[in-house]
Parts: sequence; structure tokens; C-alpha cells
Amino acid sequence: MLRLSPGYSTASLPATTGQTGIMTEDATNSANETVSAKAKPPDAASRETGPPAAATDSVLLRIEAVVKKFGALRAVDRLSLEIRGGEFFALLGPSGCGKTTLLRMLAGFETPDEGRILLDGTDIAQVLPHQRPINMMFQNYALFPHLDVRDNIAFGLKRARMPRAEIDTRVAEMVALARLEGLEKRKPDQLSGGQKQRVALARSLARRPRVLLLDEPLAALDKKLREGTQLELMELQRRLGMTFIIVTHDQEEAMTMADRIGVMNKGRLEQVATPRKLYEAPGSRWVAEFVGDVNLFEGQAGPGAGGRLAVSTKDAGTIVVTAPHDPATKSPVSVAVRPEKVKLSRGVPASGVVEAHPINRLEGVVTDVGYLGGFTTYKVKLDTGAVVRSSMANTTRLDIDAYRSTERVVAWFTPEDCVVLEQ
Ligand SMILES: Nc1ncnc2c1ncn2[C@@H]1O[C@H](COP(=O)(O)OP(=O)(O)OP(=O)(O)O)[C@@H](O)[C@H]1O
Ligand SMILES: [Mg+2]
Repeated sequence: MLRLSPGYSTASLPATTGQTGIMTEDATNSANETVSAKAKPPDAASRETGPPAAATDSVLLRIEAVVKKFGALRAVDRLSLEIRGGEFFALLGPSGCGKTTLLRMLAGFETPDEGRILLDGTDIAQVLPHQRPINMMFQNYALFPHLDVRDNIAFGLKRARMPRAEIDTRVAEMVALARLEGLEKRKPDQLSGGQKQRVALARSLARRPRVLLLDEPLAALDKKLREGTQLELMELQRRLGMTFIIVTHDQEEAMTMADRIGVMNKGRLEQVATPRKLYEAPGSRWVAEFVGDVNLFEGQAGPGAGGRLAVSTKDAGTIVVTAPHDPATKSPVSVAVRPEKVKLSRGVPASGVVEAHPINRLEGVVTDVGYLGGFTTYKVKLDTGAVVRSSMANTTRLDIDAYRSTERVVAWFTPEDCVVLEQ
């Protein structure tokens, strides 16, 4: 296991000009100057030494009703969020919803127009980016092309005037941590995508920030390498007890890695929840549709037998659902059912069907079959014309159980498989 040398520098890496474009020292300096014009001396939040972050239940970072405007656009719109120490938090959301802008405000490269960002209870508005114990790893890695691996990693340490011997020790640690041994003298253009990613990670960790912001860190890697790196990142985060906030477009990646996920839309957080809760109990129709695949049936809710709800839909007749609370009767609702909850069968799924356990059955014809190795996706056109998607695990090698196009089937799911969404 890696041994970390004592002394916890809280200053971060140099400011950069932005998410895109290779960072240069000149650009770095001018970016800093822009900020320093407004800056006051750092307060307690930028103290130079302190203990490493440990996984705790206490709030480390508090974002309070933060707004960032670009002209008429509210890129981040009254967003509030609390991040716990040692947490692995993922931000998901469509392109342009404000994820990078939020990270840039946390790192200090953008100033909020309204609201506050507190670290350990202290407002960090006036703390310069390189004095914040918050570091950002950029999507394109932003490595210095003219510096070799070692000097890229050492850059922030030199800038913080760390003694030479300590820099050597720290760089060696980071090289080992990121498995870059033997590559120290290479320039970025002599590295593979995965190696560049690891240099960028090593550089962003070198000063031991308390919070590491990762903006799509794995986007450039192929699937296998990405999966391996996900596990490494999780291991690393746990071992260092650091707080990670990661932006990703890959929902599976967010689900795999994060303790909690925040789903952003148009500058706001639509829902913040654990991966399971987000997927199994989405808070809105928008979240249900954004996260994973879903079948949605619109209808009017009314009372059903056994304390359940009966939702009368145009597309699928009456759907019986188990809802944790009653929506207003006759109010329009959507019933959401994930494809893997929809089972297909050739006849009526009879076993165990008694009044106490009703099953929703929809009859139709298979129109599409997509074999994906571990599972197969089916589209079933109901007699009403609506299409229901089902996803079934391929538990045997033989295809005797597979359904074929044009085959007539029953698509069925239980009341517990359904989520009722009122918005
Ligand atoms: N410096 C800027 N000036 C003007 N508009 C900007 C600026 N930076 C971002 N925007 C706008 O703010 C919105 C949010 O941008 P942001 O980069 O935060 O999105 P994002 O969620 O990171 O998207 P992506 O997933 O594509 O990276 C976008 O509409 C973008 O065009
Ligand atoms: Mg972005």
C-alpha cells in the first residue's frame, strides 16, 4: 500500500483558462491575475496544512443557492447541494446543463453571481483557485506539452515552493500511485490516452487536495480501460479518504462509482439520490427518462383493490400499481416501468396469480429483437398500437426460450414493478 508523506498541502494546481485548450504557464498566470485582482488574502479555508479528509457524515462542501449567469442564460440556477467529507459524488445531466460551470465555481475559476460556497463552514468566495484545497482534473487533461511526466506532476508543487527533496518524494509517490514508472521522462505526446489520463490524475492529486473535481475523466478511454480505471479511482478515493466530485455522461459509470448522484437539468438539480434510489424511485418523469430506459404510460389514477392504485391508461388499459402514497384521485400521472421489469411469456403467466397478487398483462406482437450478449431487448407492439420495451437476461446459451419477431406474447409486470410519477 502507498505511504503518504506527512504534510497536507491544501493549495491546488494552477488555474487554467478553461476546460478546453492545453494549459500554458502564460495562460495560467493571466487567469490567476484576473482572479487575484478581486482576491483578498485567503482565509481559514486555504490553510496550508491540515489532516487528510476522512470519510465522514459531516458536510464538507455546502453550495447555497448558487447562480451563474452568462448574459441572459442562467447556466447554474439557484443550485443548492451538500457534499459530505469522503464522499464520491457524481453529476449527471445533458450537455449544456451547467455541470462544468458548477465545477469551475467550486474550483474558483468562475465567480458565482449569487449564493455561497462554503468549505467546512467557511465562505471560499475570496480564495484564489490555487489556494483552495479543491483541485480540478480537466476533461482534456490539460497537460503541459513541453514538460515531461515528472515535471507535469511536479508543477503545482514547485509553484507552491515545496522543498526539492519533498517534491522528489511526492512525485515518486504519485508515479507509483498512477503506475507511471519508467515513463517519467516522456512528454505528453509520447503517451497513450490512458497514460495521459493517469498523469493528469497524478498531477491533480499531487498536492493532496481535500476535494478533487473530475470533469469526464474517463471519456477518452476505451470501454475495458475505462472500467479498470473506474475501479482504480474508487480504490484510490477510498484509500486517500478524499472527496471526489465527478462529471460523467456515462450513467453506468456514475452508478458504479458514486455514493450519490445528482441529476442536473437546465442549471438545477432535479434529484440527488443513491444510484439505486435514482433508478428504482426516480422523482420525476424527466429523471425516469433521463436515467436508463423506461416505459411510461400516462393515465388517471383512481383507487384500486387491496389499497393499490388503478391507473386507467389509453395505451395499456388499467394498470394496477403499488404507490407509497396516493396521488390526488383523477390527477394525471405517469406509470414508469423499467424494461427489465417487463417479462415476456407465450401464454398467460398463470402461476401464483391470485387476487392478492394481481399482475399487469399486456398483449401484443414482438416487432424488434436486439441480442446484446448478456441480455436481449424486445419491443412489443400492443394491440392499442403502443410499444412496450422488455429486456430479459440470457440465462442459457440456447435460444429455445428466445422470442421471435412477429410472435404474439404477453408482456407482464407486477404492481410493485411500477413507479407512479405525478410530474
Ligand atoms: N464562458 C461562457 N460564456 C458564455 N456561455 C457559457 C460559458 N461557459 C458556459 N456557457 C454556457 O453555459 C451553459 C452550461 O455550460 P457547461 O459547460 O457548464 O455545460 P455542461 O453541463 O458541462 O455540458 P457538457 O456536458 O456538454 O460538457 C451552456 O449553455 C454553455 O454554452
Ligand atoms: Mg462540461
